[in-house]
Amino acid sequence: MSLSFEGRVVLVTGAGGGLGREYALAFAERGASVVVNDLGADTKGGGKSSAAADKVVEEIRAKGGKAVANYDSVEDGEKLIQSTLDAFGRIDVVVNNAGILRDRSFARTSDLDWDLIQRVHLRGSFLVTRAAWNHMKNQKFGRIIMTASAAGIYGNFGQANYSAAKLGMLGLANTLAIEGRKYNVHCNTIAPVAGSRLTETVMPPDLVASLKPEYVAPLVLWLCHEQCQENGGLFEVGAGWIGKLRWERSQGRTVRQKNQPMTPEVVRDQWDKICDFTDATKPTSVQESLQSIMTVLSQVESGGEVGVNPTAAAASATSASGINPAEAVGQKLPPTTFNFTHTQCILYALGVGMSTRDPDHLRFLYEGHPDFSCLPTFGVIPSQAAMMDGGLTSIPGLNIDFTQVLHGEQYLELYRPLPTSGKLTSETTIADVLDKGSGAVILLDVNTYSGDELVSYNQFTVFVVGAGGFGGKRTSEKAKPSLPPPKRAPDAVVIDSTTRDQAALYRLSGDWNPLHIDPSFAAMGGFKAPILHGLCSFGFAARHVLKHFADNDPSRFKAIKVRFVKPVMPGQSLQTEMWKEGNRIHIQCKVKETDAVVLAGAYVDLHGASEASPESLTQGGGLQSELVFAEIGRRIKDLGSELVKKVNAVFGWEITKDGKSAAQWTIDLKNGSGSLHKGPCSGKADVTFTVSDEDFMEVVMGKLNPQKAFFSGKLKVRGNIMLSQKLEVILKDYAKL
Ligand code: NAI
Repeated sequence: MSLSFEGRVVLVTGAGGGLGREYALAFAERGASVVVNDLGADTKGGGKSSAAADKVVEEIRAKGGKAVANYDSVEDGEKLIQSTLDAFGRIDVVVNNAGILRDRSFARTSDLDWDLIQRVHLRGSFLVTRAAWNHMKNQKFGRIIMTASAAGIYGNFGQANYSAAKLGMLGLANTLAIEGRKYNVHCNTIAPVAGSRLTETVMPPDLVASLKPEYVAPLVLWLCHEQCQENGGLFEVGAGWIGKLRWERSQGRTVRQKNQPMTPEVVRDQWDKICDFTDATKPTSVQESLQSIMTVLSQVESGGEVGVNPTAAAASATSASGINPAEAVGQKLPPTTFNFTHTQCILYALGVGMSTRDPDHLRFLYEGHPDFSCLPTFGVIPSQAAMMDGGLTSIPGLNIDFTQVLHGEQYLELYRPLPTSGKLTSETTIADVLDKGSGAVILLDVNTYSGDELVSYNQFTVFVVGAGGFGGKRTSEKAKPSLPPPKRAPDAVVIDSTTRDQAALYRLSGDWNPLHIDPSFAAMGGFKAPILHGLCSFGFAARHVLKHFADNDPSRFKAIKVRFVKPVMPGQSLQTEMWKEGNRIHIQCKVKETDAVVLAGAYVDLHGASEASPESLTQGGGLQSELVFAEIGRRIKDLGSELVKKVNAVFGWEITKDGKSAAQWTIDLKNGSGSLHKGPCSGKADVTFTVSDEDFMEVVMGKLNPQKAFFSGKLKVRGNIMLSQKLEVILKDYAKL
């Protein structure tokens, strides 16, 4: 469909010749009613004549178009708009095109040279546009063009006055684009190149002839059409070519440290980095521009905190130069301690999307559940504390800009199922530092202990944008590799929705980076809204695997590796695709709505169902309760029939050790002459008790009353709770220890 301007009223200033004339003819040809404004001045702004505008109006009318002339100077902006309204009753498009030149070297620029240029270009465009503004706003349609110039964008010898005015018009356009947006009043700026009487003084005649104004006009028409949604754009146009311009900003460098003076020497020393456009950003708003400044402010004040997700994370001023792997590798961060109870485990489970809607999830959400467990991926939480505390800033040989830190990959391995409460200590070592050219990769190995026992190992892969090129190696044998999935359709796919508040909930597990909650902070990072934590999607994917391939049994979990590729917005749905290859489940996670891969090269390693898991290794081993059950077994042999008469029930027992299921027993005092066997009940137990080995002994030895144990949560009962009254019969009278 051709672009029609039927019914539209267009005002083109300075349309008596050159580019303006071309615009006027083109708009009229496509049905617009055109006001051809021209003062009829000479190129320097002298003189006045109606001939120029009249001639163009005649040309238009001769072709059957609608046009009227206006001879006012753009400095009388109101008059131009009034005559437009008088002639056609409305104003839809203003093309600010009128212009003159008074080129002088700067030293010779007089007040008049300066003022005239500002008056015609900048003030004239302001006055004409302001007069049209409310009409456009009220009719909820308007298109405005500002005419800038390469001289303003880049500077040009002898055009100080003109350059200033032309770039002033761009500034004016930038703000009008913002103020007009919600009224469908758009403002764009062009920097044209065309042969005209203005350029014939500086261009050879051939070039003037070949750079035709008609190679510029189509851009102006498109930008002024109702279909065009472009707003606030800046375009270079000429010879039939059109290009768009935008601002670019170097990654820059924070050159200030908390409680230390900022000095010109540090600025000097960091100059190359400040001016380095590698991985430059392209801010598009004052908000984006300011927010990075505000971020640096808060980060410097907080002494440099390092986040673990894709974001500007923390600021560290440094006057020393970059990275020295020889110095950094092997360095340890200060150890951290993590105290937790079942509350943190449950909060984490909710944070990674578990819900009571799914009955399977209850064992991770209810501390009273007989199989209450901690999700394996909770293992990242105690270990990330070292980085959250800003420990990295103290490492010698790692003079990096912490605003440029991204969380690239994560590996987690558990050596035993996580406890549901307790105290864990973590030791973090700089395992390696790699030079990837565009950035540096830091491998952080974190070992987490419960007492002396190693519980988990994490490897955080941190990417520092712009910190490469220090001459380091590119790969490391210490890096836990990510692996591509098999090239067949996935064996299983789970789709799960995150909620609008997923990040708000997940952060309560200890990742306080404002990127995940603060819209202005997120905008600074170039995101439309706060993004979900990478480690939250990681938690979603891991539990999808656990449910699908390990029956939600955390003791089957061995390890997970993921690479963070793209952010997820809270509220989006995660699609986890899984491929089973032996005990390794390859995974890929996508945002369902966009099909964008967010977790790549990922896999979960499981312990085989029959393989000796850490849990089964301790099964029966070293439990004090073993002795009691052995005694119960003997008693049943002696007095089985009597007990069956008295009790008439099947009791299941689940003995836990350090929060983990360690042994199961079934006492059958219902069938035959009674029996005891180790392992879960083959039929259905009338009642099942879950109790720790220690508390079991307390009860047996009469130090802990079973009712009290129940009410304090130490003894959990499933099934016919009344039968627990018969416990004393079994434990006290017959165990007799
Ligand atoms: P031009 O000199 O052919 O057209 C400018 C027109 O503006 C003239 O007809 C003139 O009478 C009129 N005019 C001057 N002062 C006026 C006033 N106070 N009120 C109303 N009309 C007035 O020049 P050209 O090349 O067509 O330029 C059009 C616009 O494009 C100008 O703003 C110029 O600065 C800009 N430009 C042109 C370039 C080129 O290569 N032609 C390069 C960069 C910018």
